[in-house]
Amino acid sequence: MSELHKKTKEITELVFKSSRKAREETNAEPEPHLTQPITWPVECVVGPGLEGAIACESKIGYVNGLKGWLIYRGYDIFDLCAYSTYEEVSYLLLYGYLPTAVQLKAFKKNLIQCRNVPNTLRLLMSFSIEEMNPMAVLRLGTNLMRQEFTYIDRDGLVPKRGKVIGTDEDSIPMETVPRGEEHAIYEFKDSDPFKSKELSKFDLEPAIGYKSCYRLISGVATIAAAIVRIRQQKFPIDSDPELSHAANLIYMMTGKQPTPEEERIMDIALILHADHGINASTFAAMVVASTLSDMYFSVGSGIAALNGPLHGGANEQVLHMLREIGEVSNVKSWYKKSRKKKQKIMGFGHRVYKAYDPRARILRPLAKHLAKRNKESGRLFQVAKALEKEVISTLGVKKRIFPNVDFYSGIVYDSLGIPPEIFTPIFAVSRVSGWTSRIMEYLEKNRIFRPRAIYIGQFNKKYVSLEERTNKTR
Ligand code: CMC
Repeated sequence: MSELHKKTKEITELVFKSSRKAREETNAEPEPHLTQPITWPVECVVGPGLEGAIACESKIGYVNGLKGWLIYRGYDIFDLCAYSTYEEVSYLLLYGYLPTAVQLKAFKKNLIQCRNVPNTLRLLMSFSIEEMNPMAVLRLGTNLMRQEFTYIDRDGLVPKRGKVIGTDEDSIPMETVPRGEEHAIYEFKDSDPFKSKELSKFDLEPAIGYKSCYRLISGVATIAAAIVRIRQQKFPIDSDPELSHAANLIYMMTGKQPTPEEERIMDIALILHADHGINASTFAAMVVASTLSDMYFSVGSGIAALNGPLHGGANEQVLHMLREIGEVSNVKSWYKKSRKKKQKIMGFGHRVYKAYDPRARILRPLAKHLAKRNKESGRLFQVAKALEKEVISTLGVKKRIFPNVDFYSGIVYDSLGIPPEIFTPIFAVSRVSGWTSRIMEYLEKNRIFRPRAIYIGQFNKKYVSLEERTNKTR
């Protein structure tokens, strides 16, 4: 058991309690038909928004939405939160197994070395960051990191693309039945196609591969923390190599070393957000990577997709919503009005979960625990609890709508003194390990993503010249 886990036994107990409750409510049967290798092409029922579509096989994570399960590489999320750390979980996601002590030490060393992004921060500070959406800054930061660390755009340094073999996209009739190839349409001859001896003297790296994953896992955290500082008219703080990823994130944002309890809760929040199947941002990142773009652009796309209020942006909206409601006594009338206006309640509902989201199960007691520390957080937690009761007794019963991960995470971050506009960037800080792991896995058998739309437009329209065109000739 780590020193941190020894010092935060009360938090571990809260996780165990949630875990026991989850196990009582869900049984231990996997879904055999959804956990077996498939033969391509596969038949599945697809709804709008690609609901139900199977895009690839993966060994990284499993979400059973009916039972409320979340598994990373075979390990239950409750166990990972109780026993593990974000660094260990990132290694697990990337490599497929829990590291030995030696492997973990080396991995942490790599992450610590990758925390410093001096040129990226220097360039970022030339933008008016205070006026930009923090997610836009984060995305910009990944572009600047690409420039700082990789040779991808340097004239004369880019290795010949001859190292990429096998491209047969053009041989596939685009609008026909998928053939379901087993093999990659594009393949590299070796795992690092851009490796070249001349490059070592420039100290620059490829923009894909494990090093790019380490750079992004660490660097995005440094940039997120710098955004907080700069928005408060303060200088960014250098990382502390003695601190864990979670503790360092809090330290670089606030300038204060967190207590063991704060560090542990942040660590659990990071573990909980690290991966979640082919969600919108993971898919966005994978789509970009599947074109053989690079890790930095792919993660930038993930950040862009995560920003929306239907995805990662919901956590910030939840806090604003709870503040707007203000008091427990206002919950019923506020909820009635929102339902009348057919507004979506932020932090509720999920494409996959039709049961209580296990991440919310873990975050709820942690939010309650932290909320004891100050009156305002306590009040927000009480409002959240009352709202949850209203939603579950109505939408929960009728439509299987329950709190999702974003509902309680906002209260947790708020209690840790993190400004609301940074909640979604923190989601991104954590999800980088999921995005990069999924990309590394997908590239092993890459095939460019290319779904199709059903054309429901017209045919045989007569072209009308500009001179004769009117609204009627449309
Ligand atoms: N409040 C009220 N009604 C809801 C909600 C909600 N939060 N979520 C879904 N519904 C209703 C929706 O109105 C629809 O009803 P009807 O069938 O009568 O038209 C039905 O449930 C199905 O909803 P949907 O929008 O078609 O479901 P979806 O699978 O396309 O969307 C969702 C999933 C997460 C986008 C949606 O539940 C939502 O907008 N929730 C609020 C935003 C939110 O909390 N997002 C965070 C998601 S979890 C973390 C993450 O992915 O980042």
